[in-house]
Amino acid sequence: MSSSASKVNERATQIFSHLAQITPSLKDKVCIVTGAGSIYGIGRSAAISLAKRGPRAIYVTDLTLDNLDGLVKVIQSTFPGVDCIARAVDAASTDAVRGIIDEAMSTYGRLDVFFANAGIATASRLQDEDAESFMNVMRVNTLSCFLAIKYAGAAMLKTGSGNKEMTGGSIICTASVAGLRSGAGSPEYSASKAAVINLCQTSAYQFAGTNIRVNAVCPGLIETGMTKTTFDYARERGTSHKIGQLNPTKRYGIASEIAHVVAFLASDEASYLNGQAIAVDGGLSASLPVVPGKFH
Ligand SMILES: NC(=O)c1ccc[n+]([C@@H]2O[C@H](COP(=O)([O-])OP(=O)(O)OC[C@H]3O[C@@H](n4cnc5c(N)ncnc54)[C@H](O)[C@@H]3O)[C@@H](O)[C@H]2O)c1
Repeated sequence: MSSSASKVNERATQIFSHLAQITPSLKDKVCIVTGAGSIYGIGRSAAISLAKRGPRAIYVTDLTLDNLDGLVKVIQSTFPGVDCIARAVDAASTDAVRGIIDEAMSTYGRLDVFFANAGIATASRLQDEDAESFMNVMRVNTLSCFLAIKYAGAAMLKTGSGNKEMTGGSIICTASVAGLRSGAGSPEYSASKAAVINLCQTSAYQFAGTNIRVNAVCPGLIETGMTKTTFDYARERGTSHKIGQLNPTKRYGIASEIAHVVAFLASDEASYLNGQAIAVDGGLSASLPVVPGKFH
Protein backbone atom coordinates (compact mmCIF):
# COMPACT_ATOMS: atom_id res chain seq x y z
CA MET A 1 0.00 0.00 0.00
CA SER A 2 1.31 3.50 -0.84
CA SER A 3 2.12 5.78 2.07
CA SER A 4 -0.67 8.20 1.13
CA ALA A 5 -3.21 5.33 1.03
CA SER A 6 -2.08 4.12 4.43
CA LYS A 7 -2.37 7.68 5.81
CA VAL A 8 -5.98 7.87 4.54
CA ASN A 9 -6.77 4.52 6.14
CA GLU A 10 -5.15 5.58 9.40
CA ARG A 11 -7.21 8.79 9.48
CA ALA A 12 -10.43 6.93 8.73
CA THR A 13 -9.72 4.43 11.52
CA GLN A 14 -9.05 7.30 13.93
CA ILE A 15 -12.33 8.96 12.96
CA PHE A 16 -14.34 5.73 13.12
CA SER A 17 -13.10 5.02 16.64
CA HIS A 18 -14.09 8.56 17.60
CA LEU A 19 -17.55 7.96 16.03
CA ALA A 20 -18.12 5.01 18.35
CA GLN A 21 -18.33 7.49 21.24
CA ILE A 22 -20.72 9.94 19.58
CA THR A 23 -23.43 11.54 21.69
CA PRO A 24 -25.55 14.67 21.21
CA SER A 25 -23.23 16.31 23.71
CA LEU A 26 -20.91 19.23 22.99
CA LYS A 27 -18.86 18.35 26.07
CA ASP A 28 -15.47 20.15 26.18
CA LYS A 29 -16.32 22.13 23.04
CA VAL A 30 -15.97 25.86 22.56
CA CYS A 31 -18.55 27.72 20.48
CA ILE A 32 -18.97 31.22 19.05
CA VAL A 33 -22.30 32.65 17.89
CA THR A 34 -22.69 35.94 16.00
CA GLY A 35 -25.89 37.99 15.87
CA ALA A 36 -27.07 36.62 19.23
CA GLY A 37 -28.39 39.87 20.66
CA SER A 38 -31.90 40.00 19.20
CA ILE A 39 -34.45 38.91 21.83
CA TYR A 40 -36.55 36.83 19.41
CA GLY A 41 -33.66 36.10 17.08
CA ILE A 42 -32.26 32.86 15.73
CA GLY A 43 -28.81 33.56 17.25
CA ARG A 44 -30.09 33.87 20.81
CA SER A 45 -32.22 30.76 20.50
CA ALA A 46 -29.30 28.82 18.96
CA ALA A 47 -27.02 29.85 21.84
CA ILE A 48 -29.53 28.32 24.26
CA SER A 49 -29.84 25.13 22.16
CA LEU A 50 -26.04 24.83 22.05
CA ALA A 51 -25.86 25.38 25.81
CA LYS A 52 -28.31 22.50 26.39
CA ARG A 53 -25.69 20.19 24.89
CA GLY A 54 -23.21 21.12 27.61
CA PRO A 55 -20.22 22.73 25.86
CA ARG A 56 -17.25 24.08 27.81
CA ALA A 57 -17.96 27.65 26.66
CA ILE A 58 -20.12 29.75 24.38
CA TYR A 59 -19.23 33.25 23.22
CA VAL A 60 -22.42 35.15 22.44
CA THR A 61 -21.76 38.18 20.27
CA ASP A 62 -23.52 41.01 18.46
CA LEU A 63 -22.76 44.56 17.36
CA THR A 64 -23.45 45.82 20.89
CA LEU A 65 -23.83 44.17 24.29
CA ASP A 66 -27.57 45.04 24.38
CA ASN A 67 -29.51 41.96 25.55
CA LEU A 68 -26.36 39.83 25.71
CA ASP A 69 -25.83 40.18 29.45
CA GLY A 70 -29.39 38.91 29.94
CA LEU A 71 -28.63 35.94 27.68
CA VAL A 72 -25.48 35.17 29.67
CA LYS A 73 -27.55 35.14 32.89
CA VAL A 74 -30.15 32.79 31.38
CA ILE A 75 -27.51 30.36 30.11
CA GLN A 76 -25.31 30.40 33.21
CA SER A 77 -28.23 29.93 35.61
CA THR A 78 -29.85 27.15 33.54
CA PHE A 79 -26.63 25.37 32.55
CA PRO A 80 -24.16 26.09 35.37
CA GLY A 81 -21.33 24.07 33.81
CA VAL A 82 -21.25 26.22 30.68
CA ASP A 83 -19.14 29.37 30.54
CA CYS A 84 -21.08 32.00 28.62
CA ILE A 85 -19.25 35.15 27.61
CA ALA A 86 -20.79 38.22 25.95
CA ARG A 87 -18.70 40.28 23.54
CA ALA A 88 -19.43 43.11 21.14
CA VAL A 89 -18.28 41.85 17.75
CA ASP A 90 -19.00 43.28 14.31
CA ALA A 91 -19.29 40.01 12.39
CA ALA A 92 -18.21 41.75 9.18
CA SER A 93 -14.97 43.16 10.63
CA THR A 94 -11.79 41.14 10.10
CA ASP A 95 -10.21 42.50 13.29
CA ALA A 96 -13.27 41.80 15.41
CA VAL A 97 -13.73 38.25 14.11
CA ARG A 98 -10.05 37.45 14.51
CA GLY A 99 -10.14 39.03 17.97
CA ILE A 100 -12.94 36.85 19.33
CA ILE A 101 -11.41 33.70 17.84
CA ASP A 102 -8.01 34.59 19.34
CA GLU A 103 -9.68 35.18 22.71
CA ALA A 104 -11.39 31.76 22.61
CA MET A 105 -8.11 30.10 21.59
CA SER A 106 -6.03 31.79 24.27
CA THR A 107 -8.62 31.17 26.99
CA TYR A 108 -9.69 27.62 26.14
CA GLY A 109 -7.06 26.43 23.68
CA ARG A 110 -9.62 25.29 21.11
CA LEU A 111 -12.51 26.26 18.88
CA ASP A 112 -15.09 23.70 17.78
CA VAL A 113 -18.24 25.48 16.63
CA PHE A 114 -18.78 28.79 14.86
CA PHE A 115 -22.36 29.80 14.10
CA ALA A 116 -22.11 32.71 11.63
CA ASN A 117 -25.63 34.01 11.96
CA ALA A 118 -25.49 37.82 11.92
CA GLY A 119 -27.45 39.30 9.08
CA ILE A 120 -29.57 42.14 7.80
CA ALA A 121 -32.47 42.15 5.35
CA THR A 122 -33.72 44.75 2.91
CA ALA A 123 -37.18 44.91 1.36
CA SER A 124 -36.14 46.80 -1.77
CA ARG A 125 -36.89 46.27 -5.44
CA LEU A 126 -34.02 46.02 -7.92
CA GLN A 127 -34.51 49.54 -9.28
CA ASP A 128 -34.30 51.00 -5.77
CA GLU A 129 -31.04 49.23 -4.93
CA ASP A 130 -27.65 50.65 -5.80
CA ALA A 131 -23.99 49.72 -5.49
CA GLU A 132 -23.83 51.03 -1.95
CA SER A 133 -26.88 49.17 -0.63
CA PHE A 134 -25.81 46.00 -2.49
CA MET A 135 -22.28 46.08 -1.07
CA ASN A 136 -23.56 46.77 2.43
CA VAL A 137 -25.81 43.71 2.38
CA MET A 138 -22.99 41.63 0.91
CA ARG A 139 -20.63 42.92 3.61
CA VAL A 140 -22.86 42.06 6.54
CA ASN A 141 -24.40 38.84 5.21
CA THR A 142 -21.66 37.32 3.08
CA LEU A 143 -18.31 38.79 4.09
CA SER A 144 -19.21 37.88 7.71
CA CYS A 145 -19.51 34.23 6.69
CA PHE A 146 -16.28 34.37 4.67
CA LEU A 147 -14.42 35.73 7.72
CA ALA A 148 -16.01 33.16 10.02
CA ILE A 149 -15.08 30.28 7.74
CA LYS A 150 -11.54 31.52 7.08
CA TYR A 151 -10.53 32.32 10.66
CA ALA A 152 -12.61 29.76 12.55
CA GLY A 153 -11.39 27.11 10.11
CA ALA A 154 -7.77 28.06 10.81
CA ALA A 155 -8.39 27.78 14.57
CA MET A 156 -10.14 24.43 14.16
CA LEU A 157 -7.00 23.07 12.52
CA LYS A 158 -5.04 23.62 15.74
CA THR A 159 -4.55 20.70 18.08
CA GLY A 160 -2.47 19.96 21.13
CA SER A 161 -4.15 22.43 23.49
CA GLY A 162 -7.55 22.46 25.23
CA ASN A 163 -7.57 18.67 25.21
CA LYS A 164 -8.07 18.63 21.44
CA GLU A 165 -6.30 15.73 19.77
CA MET A 166 -7.78 15.82 16.27
CA THR A 167 -8.38 18.72 13.92
CA GLY A 168 -12.06 19.38 13.35
CA GLY A 169 -15.08 21.50 13.98
CA SER A 170 -18.43 22.60 12.66
CA ILE A 171 -19.04 25.93 10.95
CA ILE A 172 -22.67 26.78 10.33
CA CYS A 173 -23.72 29.84 8.37
CA THR A 174 -27.22 31.22 8.27
CA ALA A 175 -28.26 31.55 4.65
CA SER A 176 -31.96 31.59 3.70
CA VAL A 177 -34.46 30.00 1.37
CA ALA A 178 -34.02 33.32 -0.45
CA GLY A 179 -30.55 32.07 -1.39
CA LEU A 180 -31.98 28.90 -2.92
CA ARG A 181 -34.60 30.43 -5.21
CA SER A 182 -36.27 33.67 -6.15
CA GLY A 183 -39.34 34.91 -4.34
CA ALA A 184 -38.26 35.12 -0.71
CA GLY A 185 -36.28 38.35 -0.49
CA SER A 186 -34.94 41.43 -2.22
CA PRO A 187 -32.40 40.92 -5.04
CA GLU A 188 -29.45 42.06 -2.91
CA TYR A 189 -30.52 39.99 0.11
CA SER A 190 -31.14 36.89 -2.02
CA ALA A 191 -27.81 37.25 -3.82
CA SER A 192 -25.99 37.62 -0.49
CA LYS A 193 -27.55 34.41 0.81
CA ALA A 194 -26.91 32.46 -2.41
CA ALA A 195 -23.27 33.45 -2.01
CA VAL A 196 -23.30 32.17 1.58
CA ILE A 197 -24.53 28.77 0.39
CA ASN A 198 -21.79 28.52 -2.22
CA LEU A 199 -19.13 29.66 0.25
CA CYS A 200 -20.15 26.83 2.57
CA GLN A 201 -20.05 24.27 -0.23
CA THR A 202 -16.73 25.49 -1.61
CA SER A 203 -15.16 25.72 1.83
CA ALA A 204 -16.24 22.20 2.80
CA TYR A 205 -13.87 21.07 0.04
CA GLN A 206 -11.14 23.53 1.04
CA PHE A 207 -11.09 21.76 4.43
CA ALA A 208 -11.17 18.28 2.91
CA GLY A 209 -9.70 15.62 5.16
CA THR A 210 -9.56 17.83 8.26
CA ASN A 211 -12.86 16.87 9.90
CA ILE A 212 -13.99 20.49 9.62
CA ARG A 213 -17.54 20.58 8.30
CA VAL A 214 -19.16 23.67 6.76
CA ASN A 215 -22.91 23.80 6.28
CA ALA A 216 -25.54 26.44 5.55
CA VAL A 217 -28.89 26.51 7.25
CA CYS A 218 -31.66 28.07 5.14
CA PRO A 219 -34.59 29.27 7.22
CA GLY A 220 -37.96 29.98 5.67
CA LEU A 221 -40.21 32.61 7.22
CA ILE A 222 -39.38 32.84 10.93
CA GLU A 223 -40.83 35.31 13.42
CA THR A 224 -37.78 37.22 14.73
CA GLY A 225 -36.61 40.79 15.16
CA MET A 226 -35.95 40.85 11.41
CA THR A 227 -39.52 40.01 10.39
CA LYS A 228 -41.28 41.74 13.30
CA THR A 229 -42.71 44.60 11.20
CA THR A 230 -44.25 42.13 8.72
CA PHE A 231 -45.87 40.18 11.53
CA ASP A 232 -46.99 43.33 13.40
CA TYR A 233 -48.50 44.75 10.22
CA ALA A 234 -50.38 41.53 9.44
CA ARG A 235 -51.70 41.33 13.02
CA GLU A 236 -52.84 44.96 12.85
CA ARG A 237 -54.71 44.27 9.63
CA GLY A 238 -56.15 41.00 10.92
CA THR A 239 -54.39 38.98 8.21
CA SER A 240 -51.88 37.07 10.37
CA HIS A 241 -53.69 33.78 9.58
CA LYS A 242 -52.38 34.15 6.02
CA ILE A 243 -48.70 34.14 7.07
CA GLY A 244 -46.86 30.96 6.16
CA GLN A 245 -49.74 29.48 4.15
CA LEU A 246 -47.54 28.85 1.09
CA ASN A 247 -45.68 25.97 2.73
CA PRO A 248 -47.16 22.51 3.33
CA THR A 249 -46.66 22.79 7.10
CA LYS A 250 -49.11 25.74 6.80
CA ARG A 251 -47.56 28.06 9.33
CA TYR A 252 -44.59 30.32 9.94
CA GLY A 253 -41.66 29.10 12.03
CA ILE A 254 -40.12 30.27 15.29
CA ALA A 255 -36.45 30.72 16.13
CA SER A 256 -36.13 27.56 18.22
CA GLU A 257 -37.06 25.46 15.16
CA ILE A 258 -33.90 26.71 13.46
CA ALA A 259 -31.87 26.56 16.68
CA HIS A 260 -32.46 22.80 17.14
CA VAL A 261 -31.10 22.14 13.65
CA VAL A 262 -28.07 24.37 14.29
CA ALA A 263 -27.28 22.52 17.54
CA PHE A 264 -27.54 19.19 15.71
CA LEU A 265 -25.23 20.44 12.93
CA ALA A 266 -22.79 21.65 15.58
CA SER A 267 -22.61 18.25 17.22
CA ASP A 268 -20.73 15.11 16.21
CA GLU A 269 -24.13 13.52 15.54
CA ALA A 270 -23.93 15.38 12.22
CA SER A 271 -20.44 14.02 11.53
CA TYR A 272 -21.18 12.96 7.93
CA LEU A 273 -23.16 16.09 7.04
CA ASN A 274 -20.93 18.45 5.12
CA GLY A 275 -21.22 21.10 2.42
CA GLN A 276 -25.02 21.16 2.52
CA ALA A 277 -27.69 23.83 2.39
CA ILE A 278 -30.33 22.61 4.82
CA ALA A 279 -33.71 24.23 4.22
CA VAL A 280 -35.70 24.58 7.44
CA ASP A 281 -38.78 26.13 5.92
CA GLY A 282 -41.82 23.97 6.58
CA GLY A 283 -41.35 22.54 3.08
CA LEU A 284 -41.62 25.87 1.22
CA SER A 285 -38.68 25.19 -1.09
CA ALA A 286 -39.81 21.62 -1.84
CA SER A 287 -42.32 22.54 -4.52
CA LEU A 288 -42.55 24.34 -7.83
CA PRO A 289 -45.47 26.76 -8.01
CA VAL A 290 -48.66 24.80 -8.67
CA VAL A 291 -52.25 25.63 -9.47
CA PRO A 292 -53.95 25.49 -6.04
CA GLY A 293 -55.96 22.31 -5.71
CA LYS A 294 -54.49 20.73 -8.81
CA PHE A 295 -51.65 18.69 -7.31
CA HIS A 296 -51.82 19.46 -3.59
N1 LIG B 1 -36.28 35.67 10.22
C1 LIG B 1 -36.36 35.06 9.07
O1 LIG B 1 -37.46 34.83 8.53
C2 LIG B 1 -35.10 34.63 8.38
C3 LIG B 1 -35.22 33.83 7.24
C4 LIG B 1 -34.06 33.42 6.59
C5 LIG B 1 -32.82 33.78 7.07
N2 LIG B 1 -32.75 34.58 8.17
C6 LIG B 1 -31.38 34.93 8.63
O2 LIG B 1 -31.25 34.56 9.98
C7 LIG B 1 -30.19 35.31 10.57
C8 LIG B 1 -30.64 35.82 11.91
O3 LIG B 1 -31.66 36.75 11.72
P1 LIG B 1 -32.95 36.86 12.65
O4 LIG B 1 -34.11 36.48 11.80
O5 LIG B 1 -32.72 36.20 13.93
O6 LIG B 1 -33.02 38.44 12.76
P2 LIG B 1 -32.74 39.42 13.98
O7 LIG B 1 -32.78 40.78 13.35
O8 LIG B 1 -33.68 39.11 15.06
O9 LIG B 1 -31.25 39.06 14.42
C9 LIG B 1 -30.14 39.41 13.63
C10 LIG B 1 -29.02 39.87 14.55
O10 LIG B 1 -27.87 40.13 13.78
C11 LIG B 1 -27.24 41.27 14.33
N3 LIG B 1 -26.33 41.90 13.38
C12 LIG B 1 -26.62 42.61 12.26
N4 LIG B 1 -25.48 43.05 11.69
C13 LIG B 1 -24.46 42.61 12.46
C14 LIG B 1 -23.05 42.70 12.39
N5 LIG B 1 -22.45 43.38 11.41
N6 LIG B 1 -22.31 42.12 13.35
C15 LIG B 1 -22.89 41.44 14.36
N7 LIG B 1 -24.21 41.31 14.48
C16 LIG B 1 -24.99 41.88 13.54
C17 LIG B 1 -28.37 42.18 14.73
O11 LIG B 1 -27.96 43.16 15.67
C18 LIG B 1 -29.37 41.18 15.29
O12 LIG B 1 -29.20 40.99 16.68
C19 LIG B 1 -29.84 36.39 9.55
O13 LIG B 1 -28.66 36.03 8.87
C20 LIG B 1 -31.02 36.39 8.62
O14 LIG B 1 -30.71 36.87 7.34
C21 LIG B 1 -33.84 34.99 8.84
